[in-house]
Amino acid sequence: MANVVVVGAQWGDEGKGKIVDWLSERADVICRFQGGHNAGHTLVIDGKVYKLHALPSGVVRGGKLSVIGNGVVLDPWHLLTEIETITAQGVEITPETLMIAENTPLILPFHGELDRAREEAASKGTKIGTTGRGIGPCYEDKVGRRAIRVADLADAATLEARVDRALQHHDPLRRGLGIEPIDRDALIAQLQEIAPRILQYAAPVWKVLNEKRKAGRRILFEGAQGALLDIDFGTYPFVTSSNVIAGQAATGVGIGPGAIDYVLGIVKAYTTRVGEGPFPTELHDEDGQRLGERGHEFGTTTGRKRRCGWFDAALVRQTCATSGVNGISLTKLDVLDGFDTLKICVGYELDGARLDYLPTATDAQARCVPIYEEMEGWAESTEGARSWADLPANAIKYVRRVEELIECPVALLSTSPERDDTILVTDPFAD
Ligand code: GDP
Ligand code: IMO
Ligand code: MG
Repeated sequence: MANVVVVGAQWGDEGKGKIVDWLSERADVICRFQGGHNAGHTLVIDGKVYKLHALPSGVVRGGKLSVIGNGVVLDPWHLLTEIETITAQGVEITPETLMIAENTPLILPFHGELDRAREEAASKGTKIGTTGRGIGPCYEDKVGRRAIRVADLADAATLEARVDRALQHHDPLRRGLGIEPIDRDALIAQLQEIAPRILQYAAPVWKVLNEKRKAGRRILFEGAQGALLDIDFGTYPFVTSSNVIAGQAATGVGIGPGAIDYVLGIVKAYTTRVGEGPFPTELHDEDGQRLGERGHEFGTTTGRKRRCGWFDAALVRQTCATSGVNGISLTKLDVLDGFDTLKICVGYELDGARLDYLPTATDAQARCVPIYEEMEGWAESTEGARSWADLPANAIKYVRRVEELIECPVALLSTSPERDDTILVTDPFAD
């Protein structure tokens, strides 16, 4: 297969970064196609930890082209800082290895301010628990046709006109929230100061990728967040502001949907969620605490404690369908070591009826009671296992049951944060 899309199949933090880094050995180009620096992707290579937010996880390998597509919202100041941090860790980033789509909307300081002010002003039950990074307000500006895009940095007159247009919308909003007006001239000066450093990476990404494709180059698409945070198919309104599912890979860079040969869903062997919103299998007991501690479940971006719960096969079957997942990478199996009993949610009970999917209405989602199947756990360690032969029989049974319930095969299995503690079953790039 030439082109592979990696998507999170739960509420994010499934281990996409580790798997994208692992797979990037087989790819020529690695592209981000949605989200922004709300993402936090952790890579561990020979004990060295890399935390990426806006940069594609392929940058660490070197010798690959990393692409930030138009479907992304980009905070240019954050990007420059992240480049500095990663460069200090010994990774080389140049205009030859990093390309940013010219039509990518920019996250500006007032987007973050608005995001945080709204969250502070929200009453109980309406707070989303965003990362506070301005993601939602920037996507609103994109759809509202008042965003400032990378290409606008090249011309002073255009930039000023775009800033004025954005301020026309934002100043009244800010007034309503009790925030002081934006200092127009200071903002323009700030943007002009960083313009050359951003523009050196700017390119018509759609064109470059279509040429790469024709030349037979392999493209790996790196999703951020997870399908349950998708703006259309997630647990709305407790979602992020972009389409996260695999179809977005095409529109988020400018290639045809026919270019996608394989969709790899990243699935954690249990479930986590950061922020507010329904979570049917959430645990508030010792088992939940144990998952959080063994899995080090703290957010890479905000440091917040992640909510933890049992594996929800009904939800993952649903997300595999909406993204057309061909195979999954099951991660963090090792975190389940030592549990006497494991539970898997196979559906829900709602008002006396049995459902095999999560309904759309928020109140119905909140009232869904999980129906569990129990499985015997395993006492042995799976941490660092690199072949099926290293796995205890009950761990294999768990993996096989997951495959049956979600109706999708396991292509990769991950047993620790380390790059090479990965078991390959089916190579997504194999023809
Ligand atoms: P992403 O947002 O999907 O890239 O995931 P994050 O990086 O936010 O969170 C996943 C965390 O789990 C990271 O700290 C990874 O280093 C770690 N991780 C990934 N795969 C495994 C695994 O198989 N086992 C364990 N124990 N940790 C893993
Ligand atoms: P990665 O790529 C987990 C969640 C936030 C919040 C909601 C909206 O690391 O998997 P936003 O700032 O996007 O407007 O917040 O989405 N969220 C994530 N949760 N992993 C992520 O990214 C997330 N990105 C956003 O916690 O609930
Ligand atoms: Mg993450």
